[in-house]
Amino acid sequence: MVPDTVVPFVPPTQFSPRVFSGVQPTGNLHIGNYLGAIKRFVPLQDSFECIYCVVDLHAITVWQNPNELKHNIHEVTAAYLASGIDPKRSIVFNQSQVSAHAELAWIFNCVARLGWLNRMTQFKEKAGKTQENASVGLYAYPALMAADILAYRATHVPVGEDQKQHLELARDIAQKFNTDFADRIAELDLGDSFFPLPDPLIQGPAPRVMSLRDGSKKMSKSDISDYSRVNLTDDADTIATKIRKAKTDPDNLPSEAAGLNGRLEALNLVTLFAALEETNIDAVLSTFGGGTFSVFKAALVDVAVAKLAPIGTEMNRLMAAPDYIQDVLRDGSMRARVIADETLNHVKDILGFVRG
Ligand code: TYM
Repeated sequence: MVPDTVVPFVPPTQFSPRVFSGVQPTGNLHIGNYLGAIKRFVPLQDSFECIYCVVDLHAITVWQNPNELKHNIHEVTAAYLASGIDPKRSIVFNQSQVSAHAELAWIFNCVARLGWLNRMTQFKEKAGKTQENASVGLYAYPALMAADILAYRATHVPVGEDQKQHLELARDIAQKFNTDFADRIAELDLGDSFFPLPDPLIQGPAPRVMSLRDGSKKMSKSDISDYSRVNLTDDADTIATKIRKAKTDPDNLPSEAAGLNGRLEALNLVTLFAALEETNIDAVLSTFGGGTFSVFKAALVDVAVAKLAPIGTEMNRLMAAPDYIQDVLRDGSMRARVIADETLNHVKDILGFVRG
């Protein structure tokens, strides 16, 4: 525990820019996770201090097989590293090893309002028709997510579009905490506001990759059909088969982006091509517009294999070296703990808890 007197405090108007994001270790990491999130984590390392977490506490909001969880935690870590996250420059760790996340989440459970959580669409989707049987953790999930971000007083959070509402809730929690305890924060000389309002970074060409089987559904780790997604560990043949079997419509590709309106599957495949090639939809259509899907799909297979296969190969190589992965996670959690514990100590002082 760090004594108050030596804790350097960043004035609230000068929150240092800091990036935080997380991925759940629930298996089946896919191209949506990669293009919507992990790929975008990499260049942020050049401009920001970055913290990338494997959110295992979030994973257990639905039942996880203990024998598979360790494998999945290693797999997300391997995906981070294979995609280009440098564990020396950035902090890479798993959430359960930094207890401040769970402690701050409890405090945020007492800040967040039931009405706010009741509005969360992801809970409704995940709980389905049997809400009574959903875990309390699944309901409180967004408060833990706010704790993840705010334990580091992170200012920027790169995520896919599906996390937008959770990010808005994190901002509401930060705002309410700052307001509810404004006098106390000032009294302790912690500035006007203690938490920054984190900015979601929902950017890039593919913030919402759709299922290969149904262009109206988000590509998801939990879809029962493996043909709905390209997984990061799929080999070249599997990638090719999945893309060849991807649903399309009977028409040729249009020559202009407007022609993709209402053609959800075509739009998804063209978007995937653009994101993998780091170009835009217009450029893709200027090459493939007017042509058949079979020609376009063959080119998409080539691009997908060229970009994804090296990541899959590197992930497999890293997964075969579990000691190295453990070292990365251990080092990351030690560095994360220093920052998160400092925040939590301030929060305890703000709340009026007695620290022994
Ligand atoms: P998770 O594990 O479901 O997804 C990890 C990241 O991948 C993005 N993503 C997608 N992007 C584009 N197209 C898709 N089809 C697609 N599916 C998933 C997600 O938006 C996410 O960025 N709640 C989070 C994990 C989390 C977190 C955090 C994120 C926990 N604490 C704090 C940021 C900050 C989640 O379930 O991600």
